[in-house]
Amino acid sequence: MDKLWQGDLHGALSGAADDFNSSIRVDSRLWRQDIKGSMAHAAMMAATGIITGADADRILSGLETILHDLDSGELEIDPSCEDIHTFVEKTLTERVGDAGKKLHTARSRNDQVATDLRLYLRDKATDIIKLLKELIGSIVSVAEENRDAVMPGYTHLQRAQPILFAHHVLAYAMMFTRDVGRISDGAKRMNQNPLGSSALAGTTFKIDREMTSGALGFDGYTLNSIDGVSDRDFCVELLSALSLVMTHLSRFSEEIVLWSSFEFGYVRLSDAFTTGSSIMPQKKNPDIAELVRGKCGRVYGDLMATLTMLKGLPLAYNKDMQEDKEAVFDAVDTVGACLSVFAPMVSSMTVCRDKMQSAARGGFINATDLADYLAKRGVPFREAYKTTGNVVNYCMKRGKTLEELTLDEYKRFSDVFDGTLYEDIDLAACVERRTSAGGTGSASVDFQINYLKSFIAN
Ligand code: ARG
Repeated sequence: MDKLWQGDLHGALSGAADDFNSSIRVDSRLWRQDIKGSMAHAAMMAATGIITGADADRILSGLETILHDLDSGELEIDPSCEDIHTFVEKTLTERVGDAGKKLHTARSRNDQVATDLRLYLRDKATDIIKLLKELIGSIVSVAEENRDAVMPGYTHLQRAQPILFAHHVLAYAMMFTRDVGRISDGAKRMNQNPLGSSALAGTTFKIDREMTSGALGFDGYTLNSIDGVSDRDFCVELLSALSLVMTHLSRFSEEIVLWSSFEFGYVRLSDAFTTGSSIMPQKKNPDIAELVRGKCGRVYGDLMATLTMLKGLPLAYNKDMQEDKEAVFDAVDTVGACLSVFAPMVSSMTVCRDKMQSAARGGFINATDLADYLAKRGVPFREAYKTTGNVVNYCMKRGKTLEELTLDEYKRFSDVFDGTLYEDIDLAACVERRTSAGGTGSASVDFQINYLKSFIAN
């Protein structure tokens, strides 16, 4: 179809180049924002006397019908248009005649696309924040239901110290609170109106940018028209926040994959979130967690693609920037899909306390507590550490746990040991004694749960 710019000065594009240049396949999802932006622009032009009230009425009611017909499905987006902005303007002119041709006064597709994208991503940021809060709620619920379950905490994936399962999963909830913070922080910076920057230099028309900003719910307008049309920082900021969401989801996924294996057996995923094998009837595969882990790479890719696209671009708009949307849309879609399936997978998983408990009994994860026991009785920690190492070595050779040694055997290593040591190495007690703020002790875990509950309520 004819281009907005086609005429005496510019002939037709080759078919292949037209296809290559067109972005409608990607940006058609911006139709609502494009129409709303156009409405705000038309109303402002009438208020400032740039167009007549009668023309504005024609434009506004035409845009209203387009909005309605796209919403109801009566109108389909024409894929032969160059982009969504072309489609809306063309359809408007078909419907209202010459008044439609006035809509593009005092604006350019450069400020239009920047406006549409900010409006769209602002809503997506809100949606993703909601999904993140739902996930935090799922984590809190599984932590509360299994409030007393003890498991080994790991470093280097080696059993290290006993912790509450709740404490472990709440660590992820904390990460997701920071993700919410990052996304909403970026959304605040995003919420500045570039409309009125026009092609790059502003416009000779007496526009009222405050009015369009208010109508579109922006906090203000961008202060430099060149920056207004060239800036895609808001995409990069969102993409980088989303990349971290995926980092967190993929770490959690990895643990869920491990934990649901026969070797760990710490959790059982609901059938609703596992798949069977076409050949091995016994299998329950954690496909959902694996796929979330796998999708992390595409969001990193979206971030890298956008950063690389922007790197070295001269001011102001360059066609390279059309690539922003494919990347950022893919990222918001991917993160939205991952969160939607991850939260119910977490809240429906069964925690196998016995398996965790028996893993916690092996691996000498109370050895630090035994060393602390000696240190609290005046033995220098380095020495206490060494003595405990000797005790552990002794146990390993005999296939015993620290709890199973007799007091006489302990006395052979140090005469500081007495019968109270057994209380100190009891696993539940080891957890409970970690009363330091932010530790795995139950007061700290309760504090975290309350903090997270109020976080998601706000
Ligand atoms: N489809 C274009 C994009 O997404 C819209 C802006 C076009 N501007 C231009 N000067 N060609 O970036």
